Amino acid sequence: MISKLAQIAAISVLLCGTAAIAHEEATGVVKERMDLMDTQKDAMKILGGMAKGEVPFDAAKAAAAAHEIETTAAKVPDLFPEGTGGHPSEAKPEVWTQWDKFTDDAEALTKAATALKVALEGDASEWKAKFKGVVDACKTCHKTFRAEKKD
Ligand code: HEC
Repeated sequence: MISKLAQIAAISVLLCGTAAIAHEEATGVVKERMDLMDTQKDAMKILGGMAKGEVPFDAAKAAAAAHEIETTAAKVPDLFPEGTGGHPSEAKPEVWTQWDKFTDDAEALTKAATALKVALEGDASEWKAKFKGVVDACKTCHKTFRAEKKD
């Protein structure tokens, strides 16, 4: 019985990954920024599904997702006050030692999301290229500043 439970626990750890566990332990501003990142991840899922053709393209829904990313990205720097690194956060110390690059990366995401929104509101033929720009903006920041790089 115990080993069965242990097995189930092990499997759910595999499925959820370490980000979800860290997230459960987080409080205050760390939890707030994890929630914000998860909101962005959800918006990206909507856009990604459409980009891959898994769900039908819906310009209004896609624009709403782009808007969500644009507005949340602008809040990122405020959610990383000094001294909030370390467990359970996955933010690397570089956030604070390279603060200018960090805020530039956040601004790059805002701009990429704005470009996507504009494309979606006008002639949507360019939207996938702009979506790729948003994906790259997430990745660029995570590469330097996030310990876990799964998302
Ligand atoms: C300016 C830098 C930056 C940008 C841009 C950025 N992230 Fe993050 N992201 C981080 C950092 C740093 C963490 C780790 C936060 C922590 O654990 O304290 C993180 C964590 C996450 C997490 C894990 C949250 C959790 O529950 O632990 C997800 C999911 C995520 N980001 C998704 C995204 C997506 C999707 C985008 C693009 C739309 C994005 N991020 C853009 C810096 C960034």
